[in-house]
Amino acid sequence: MKSKYFVIIAVTLTLSATFQNCKKKTSNNPVPPTDTLYTLTPDTLIYPPHFPLPTLPADNLPFKELIQLGRMLYYDTLLSNDGRACAGCHIQANGFTSRTLYKNVMPVLPHENLAWYTNFMWDGSKTGTLEEVMLFEVSEFFATDLAKMNASAKYKPLFKKYYRTDTITHKLIAYSLAQYLRSVITKGSKYDMYFRGQTTLTGDEYMGYQIFFTETGDCFHCHTNPVMTDNMMHNTGLDSLYANDADKGYYNVTGNPNDLGKFRTPNLRNVAMRNYYMHDGRFTTLEQVIDFYDHGMHKVNNLDPIMALPYKANGLHLSTTQKNQLIAFLKTLTDSTFITDPAFAKPD
Ligand code: HEC
Ligand code: HEC
Repeated sequence: MKSKYFVIIAVTLTLSATFQNCKKKTSNNPVPPTDTLYTLTPDTLIYPPHFPLPTLPADNLPFKELIQLGRMLYYDTLLSNDGRACAGCHIQANGFTSRTLYKNVMPVLPHENLAWYTNFMWDGSKTGTLEEVMLFEVSEFFATDLAKMNASAKYKPLFKKYYRTDTITHKLIAYSLAQYLRSVITKGSKYDMYFRGQTTLTGDEYMGYQIFFTETGDCFHCHTNPVMTDNMMHNTGLDSLYANDADKGYYNVTGNPNDLGKFRTPNLRNVAMRNYYMHDGRFTTLEQVIDFYDHGMHKVNNLDPIMALPYKANGLHLSTTQKNQLIAFLKTLTDSTFITDPAFAKPD
């Protein structure tokens, strides 16, 4: 990236030198010194050592100033036309989700570790880079008014300084938001500390960990380490009939009957902080979720092969102790430093 900017600066210097030479012949007008061009500070985001390196798009590598700009935009109601800000639904103190259902029908998906995602939304209806999803959020979901943005005394100079442009576009807003969201990483839960050998689990947490990561519970095939989602679409047998269109999931995207009832695996980080579970928020406690995996599954014909493995085809049939141990483990995924981290909070 440095080299890309170096090239841009080098080209700018050459061009302005040439320009200056031409000008000298005709007038003595002063040419602004090129060193007033602002140089962005590359951000060497420290990715957790036990995480794979996320793919960074070559045209939006992390810069400190752009992450801050994205953070300002994330908290700003100016982006919407009705007083909403991204942070109004994706609330840091709640693990970047809400305590209420969206339109009474759907839990707000959390914003954590999205740098590792390529499939977005409950039904997988958005795919690609974080930049592409942000463009949808800005240009369609919020339909951000560019006239308002371009009239903003707050943002106009910042986009000018950082992107060297006189025109704020949906794309630039989306790119800045993606910068910020890519920096929103939860990596400090008890589970992470355990993973890095920095703490020990209690007896129950450890037994729950064993259930999760072995065929006893068999959760890890979809809620994979370390992001706790494989980011793929699965039918887990939650429904046998799809009474509501929203229950049809990925089918609504592809129109393929084999995709009926498939949903993108949610990540389980900070899961104990959520108070609605599944794509329609049908469960309100982790106990209810575990009971579903234990004995609530429907044997639909496109049931995920992992759910239909012989040893669990009739449910997990865990003991009460095992269920509690599994929940104790899920609670170790809560990252209290993340939800209070000033780096992600509303900027001053
Ligand atoms: C009114 C509440 C609300 C606001 C405001 C809001 N969102 Fe969301 N967001 C949701 C809901 C609900 C979902 C789940 C939607 C779905 O799956 O169809 C979601 C999902 C997402 C996702 C997908 C996460 C995943 O796990 O796949 C991203 C990314 C996102 N929102 C970004 C934003 C951004 C950026 C803004 C501001 C421009 C924003 N949201 C504003 C409610 C909101
Ligand atoms: C075949 C893949 C698969 C397996 C195996 C699996 N899950 Fe899931 N899990 C999913 C999908 C997909 C959803 C979302 C389903 C929906 O919303 O309709 C989900 C949802 C959840 C949720 C709700 C999260 C939220 O934010 O709403 C929890 C908690 C959960 N699973 C825990 C577990 C546990 C514990 C196990 C092991 C006992 C497990 N899962 C096994 C795919 C899987």
